[in-house]
Formats: sequence, C-alpha cells, structure tokens
Amino acid sequence: MSKVIVHADKATAAKAVAATIRDLIIAKAKAGQNAVLGLATGSTPLPLYAELVRLHREEALSFRNVVSFNLDEYEGLPGDHPQSYRYFMEQNLFRFIDIRRENTHVPAGISADASRTCADYEAAILAAGGIDLQVLGIGRTGHIGFNEPPSALDSRTRRVHLDEVTRRDNSIFFGELSLVPQGALTMGVGTIMDCRQVELLAFGTGKAEIIRQTLRTAPSADCPASWLKSHARCTFHLDPEANALL
Ligand code: F6R
Repeated sequence: MSKVIVHADKATAAKAVAATIRDLIIAKAKAGQNAVLGLATGSTPLPLYAELVRLHREEALSFRNVVSFNLDEYEGLPGDHPQSYRYFMEQNLFRFIDIRRENTHVPAGISADASRTCADYEAAILAAGGIDLQVLGIGRTGHIGFNEPPSALDSRTRRVHLDEVTRRDNSIFFGELSLVPQGALTMGVGTIMDCRQVELLAFGTGKAEIIRQTLRTAPSADCPASWLKSHARCTFHLDPEANALL
C-alpha cells in the first residue's frame, strides 16, 4: 500500500529520502550486490541530489555499487545539450560522486530507431535485476516520468507526446516555448510499477491540486500518478504546501 508523509519542508523530505537511499546502497554493498536506482530530473529532486552529494563528501557514501536508470529524456536532444536530462544528471549529481559512468543509463534522445531504443532500455533494466528504488516527481498533468494522461497501467518504455501544460511548465528551463521538444522517451507506468520501492516527492503550492487528485480519485489513466496507490511500497513525500488541499 502507498503511504503519505508530510514533512516540515522540502529539505527535510530530501534528507529522509536520501537516508533511505543511503541505507539501501550500504545494505546492498554489504551483500556484495549493486543497488539499482531509478532517477528523476526537474526541480523537485535537486535538494535530494544535493544531500546525496553531501553524504558522499562528508560521510564517505560510495556509489561504486550503484547502477542508475533515469526515467526519461527529451526526444531530439543529444546528451551534451544543456536541457537534456543526461546533461542534468551529470551537472547535478554524477560529476560530484563516484558512480561509474558505464553504470548510468538515460534513454537516448537521438537514435535511428526509437522503438528499439525503448525495448533495449527495458531489457537493460531487467538485465540489471530490476529497479530497487525509483525516485519520482509529479507533473501538474499527473504525469510520472513523461507518462501524460491517458497512460495505461501496463504501458512500457516508449515514445510519447508531451502535454502542452508540461511543455509550458518546462519552457522556463528552455527560455522559450518553441524550443521545448514535442516528444520524449519515457519509462512506462508498468515499468515504474515494477520497481520494488517508489519514493515520490512533491513540493510547493503548484503541486497541491494534482496531489489532491492523485490521492483522492480512483486510480485511472487520466491521472497516471494515481496508479501508484496500488503499488505495494510507494511513499508520497510532501511539504505542507503540496499537502494543502488534502
Ligand atoms: C523528470 C520527470 C517528470 C518530473 C515532473 C515534475 O524526469 O520525469 O515527471 O518529475 O515533470 O517536474 P518538476 O520537479 O520540475 O516540477
């Protein structure tokens, strides 16, 4: 079953999720295994990544046994484009920690055959043993990853068309709406539901209405995040502003 935790603020939420990730990495390392993390981009996980960097620097947390899979990537952007999600991960996390680059995965925004790229991504997740812990944000459309409504419970990694609300929200990073790609490659809802543990973060008044819808309406493709309520181990980490309408 899913649960909801309302934290004092987003820094406290980020520290709590970072501690969960640290404990997983350490437990797996002790067992001689990799920790397989699913990672998200956007504004929401920034304090979480800052805390993971601090744990690496100040508490010697090593990421040598971590394998990562990002949720999504804009279609048409190369990994060195400043708005690509590969670049985001490099700038906000990977370059500050000791993760092996060959262990990091982000769907390729440019490829000759997108459906092959998506199928290969699913296969790589399976080959890694599945995702132990997935970090999620939530879009104002109810998207997780870039699974815009309607997204089916059994959807897998695929090419998607971005909702105009999402393109407008993300245009702040691009400077201009016309520069925001129309499409993306994203893990599916089914891919996310297969993760053994899910930690969703939502902060600020801008997320209050979609959090209300997600938690108060029956699970459906119209609000893809609502499917998470039937996940066996999913926690919604909110700040008081995101919790305001509950
Ligand atoms: C990012 C992702 C998206 C974001 C969501 C919220 O990899 O998959 O679902 O988590 O759009 O974005 P922010 O955090 O910028 O509000």
